[in-house]
Amino acid sequence: MTSFPAGFLWGCGTSAYQVEGHNVDADWSDWERVPGHIADGSDASVACDWWAGAAYRLDFDLARSLGLNAFRISVEWSRVEPRQGHWDEDALSYYRRVLLALRERGLAPLVTLHHFTNPRWFTLAGGWESQRAASWFARYVKTVADALGELCDFWITINEPVVYAYFGYVDGVWPPGRRSFRRGFGVLANLVRGHAAAYHALHALQPSARVGVAHHFRRFLPATRGARLDGAAARVRDYMMNRLFFLATVDGRLRFPLSLGSRVRGAAGSQDFIGVNYYYSERTAFASRSPGQLFTRTQPPAWRADVPSFAGDVRPASLYEVVAGLRQYQLPIYVTENGLFDLGDETQSRFLVSHVAALARAAAEGVPVRGYFWWTLVDNFEWAEGYTARFGLFANDRASQRRTPRPSAAVYERLVRAQGVDADLARASGWSARR
Ligand code: BGC
Repeated sequence: MTSFPAGFLWGCGTSAYQVEGHNVDADWSDWERVPGHIADGSDASVACDWWAGAAYRLDFDLARSLGLNAFRISVEWSRVEPRQGHWDEDALSYYRRVLLALRERGLAPLVTLHHFTNPRWFTLAGGWESQRAASWFARYVKTVADALGELCDFWITINEPVVYAYFGYVDGVWPPGRRSFRRGFGVLANLVRGHAAAYHALHALQPSARVGVAHHFRRFLPATRGARLDGAAARVRDYMMNRLFFLATVDGRLRFPLSLGSRVRGAAGSQDFIGVNYYYSERTAFASRSPGQLFTRTQPPAWRADVPSFAGDVRPASLYEVVAGLRQYQLPIYVTENGLFDLGDETQSRFLVSHVAALARAAAEGVPVRGYFWWTLVDNFEWAEGYTARFGLFANDRASQRRTPRPSAAVYERLVRAQGVDADLARASGWSARR
């Protein structure tokens, strides 16, 4: 059995808006009310009842019972700053209680500061298209670090900037519902500025803080092996999704089409670790008639017919390839998200085992992987999918707020207790970590 280095973090991840409920000052609270925006017509008004019912305590008990030693949460900007420049002390006290509850249970907190949602006032004032977005964000980050810094020094500034810019500004299925590549690229450039400003705001207050981004990495493989145009299409997607933002945090440069190489002050070297959100790979084809998709097209996933349209191909080897490819940056790597929705059978467990096996393979080769966070502990509000895609190790009955373990919960516990994949689990995993 391959094992992970001492001190490896085993956790689950979630975000504030997806679990808290009773959130009334975010752009998403307006968006989810519009018919047609959420697949099942649901909303996040109760979610997992963390805010009103303090159900985070229950969930952290569950996390502890699985043997986890870390947990990823997020702070909701619209709670902390519901009106511009107005800081809500009750919200900050709530987050103090949440962080204390984690620490009391031996769960090291990893805290995200922006996870897709924004305060309503911010979005109305231009949101991430505004020239002032980065400074507004940095001021909020500073306030949070001032209030919570003694309880946490492990931060993610922004979750999946490329996914956020794409769904909100290019595809238009998330707020603010824009549909323009030009605007999407402008937003991405401002997210680089926002991240850099937040990175330095955190370090100014906490010199020893560990600060990073949770990047969404995907593997794009040519739909037909050896087909030159498919290979080029896969490279276009790889560049847009995996490199454009990431490389700006490495060398500070905004590459084409964000700009022609101008630099963002403070962005070079602005990561103390690399956060990897990895779910799928995709087979990409050249599509001459899809200028709106940059002449690329994704083949529908072939592994199962009954999966939601957002799902890609399951290919654990891609997780290995992603982290192995990041080794050159000589930074600790944390898998800050990996997960699969439940399909009512053992598929979720097999996905979990085979991805941990792929990560173990990288660790054994000396890739500096330092933690793994499954997405997610308890079914939560899945954005435009509402509650139709349930990623929890535990199912949640929203009326009673009762949590029921899925088979994947026991499997994760076994992985954590063994610090890796034992031979029996490996045999049952079903997906190769190598292909
Ligand atoms: C996001 C989560 C989301 C998960 C599952 C990630 O891209 O960060 O908020 O729930 O995917 O779709």
